[in-house]
Amino acid sequence: MCERENKRIGEMYRCSSVKSMKSIPSLSTSSTEHRKHRRQLKQRSFVPVTTNTMNTSTNTAYDDRNAYFNCRSAINGRNKSLAQVMAANHDGNTLEIERLNFLRPAEVKEIAEQFGTPVYVYDLETLREQAKKAKMFPNAFGVCVRYAMKASPNASILKTFLDEGLHIDASSGYEVERAVRAGFKYEQISLSTQDFPVEFFEGQCRKGLKVNACSLSQLEIFGQKFPGGSVGLRFNPGLGSGGTGKTNVGGPSSSFGIWFELLPKCEEIVKKYNLNVERIHTHIGSGSDPAVWQKVSSLSLALCEKFPNVKTLNLGGGYKVGRMNYEKSKSTDLNLIGEPVKVAFEDFAKRTGRELKLEIEPGTFLLANSCSVVSKAQDIVETGTNEGHTFIKLDCGMTEVLRPSLYGAQHPLINVLSTGELPSKTKKYVVVGHCCESGDLMTPAPDEPETISERELGEISIGDFMVIEGSGAYCAGMSSKNYNTFPEAPEVMRTKPGEFKIIRKRQSVDQILANEVMI
Ligand SMILES: Cc1ncc(COP(=O)(O)O)c(C=O)c1O
Repeated sequence: MCERENKRIGEMYRCSSVKSMKSIPSLSTSSTEHRKHRRQLKQRSFVPVTTNTMNTSTNTAYDDRNAYFNCRSAINGRNKSLAQVMAANHDGNTLEIERLNFLRPAEVKEIAEQFGTPVYVYDLETLREQAKKAKMFPNAFGVCVRYAMKASPNASILKTFLDEGLHIDASSGYEVERAVRAGFKYEQISLSTQDFPVEFFEGQCRKGLKVNACSLSQLEIFGQKFPGGSVGLRFNPGLGSGGTGKTNVGGPSSSFGIWFELLPKCEEIVKKYNLNVERIHTHIGSGSDPAVWQKVSSLSLALCEKFPNVKTLNLGGGYKVGRMNYEKSKSTDLNLIGEPVKVAFEDFAKRTGRELKLEIEPGTFLLANSCSVVSKAQDIVETGTNEGHTFIKLDCGMTEVLRPSLYGAQHPLINVLSTGELPSKTKKYVVVGHCCESGDLMTPAPDEPETISERELGEISIGDFMVIEGSGAYCAGMSSKNYNTFPEAPEVMRTKPGEFKIIRKRQSVDQILANEVMI
């Protein structure tokens, strides 16, 4: 029954995936249907491994994930040899246990000995490679790649991208300051923020910061401070797409950007303060569906037509990156999505005589698979043989990698023995973090942060290591910092194989307490 029900949901998604682009906003209907369906399934005490419905792109990922999970549950019994798991087959595809991205097992041991655990390890080569790929984004009249620094704002990462010729997308006045301290010039930074930093944006703008007004009131404030000034406008183009509902930042359920139907009001304010609109900006979500992203590109070009002085169109970030094996083939091919956009820019130029420059703002694309967290299994507990599980308790958790608890995001987990070798057998585990919080879960069901699921992993003992892959974007920069008074973990850069340099030290208890005042 479970499989049949799973198939029905899968079919529903396949249907929505072939909807015409025009009908994309109506996806919210299918997501309501889906939620209803999911409730019914839950009432039958079957917890399906489902996917969020806010975008079309997850449909195929859904099918793959089911294949993966069905296949995993087909591996009966608790202990299996690695070879048996590798040989497990579904529809002719070999199921692969997750592997280390760039670290070698011996390096995991070396890092733990040198820096302690938990520790973030970034790979310089991968960071540079990703920056180079982003700079090759197809374009008609030039492209500027802005690093969405919220993904991971460490100064050494910023400096790496500065050296690669990238510019910055900042999402707060504080991020602007951080980028400047890492060596960026104000004019290399563009600010699109929910929290307009009235206290200091005036000074930053005078030094050259580029501001995208993200609401009518932000535009009004900008106009009052800088009549006759140059500004960008971030629009909500009416549709969005994200890997999960929480990362979808377009459409009527999103507060990000000026709602496209408010264009006349925008024009009024622009006229009132004699503003020069030089940039249009849209960003519809992280892990967005390439088809929706392309659709938004043409809507954004239409907005450029309304403002004759616009020189640059910024299409945001959001390029989907697979972390798990089964997601990797779904990673966005920048050439594939960029080519039609390039043609659209050329057509725009033919029609209007205006050669627009393209800006993109990737965060995930640059960082996602550029960092691994090395942690330790500090305890292993059992909850009985019937409905119970074997839990691995790590010495890290939501304090280092919050995405599983927040989104039900899936990160590859690879066990490495304390000897620096890979285990030879596998076993099913639930992996949890070190916080006193049942939601501190590293193996939730996909997109279901509250549902625990088991994973087939290398068999390990207390004191062995676990590497959490795909931990570069929105991990060190988005931790639930200092919860349970756990200090911020150090960050390390792997500058070449076998060479590691500290780029942020482990926080001390004194540093955690530094701003407290006893009364
Ligand atoms: C305005 C803006 N640009 C770019 C990004 C980067 O998105 P991603 O990391 O999915 O590429 C974000 C992410 O939230 C954003 O809000």
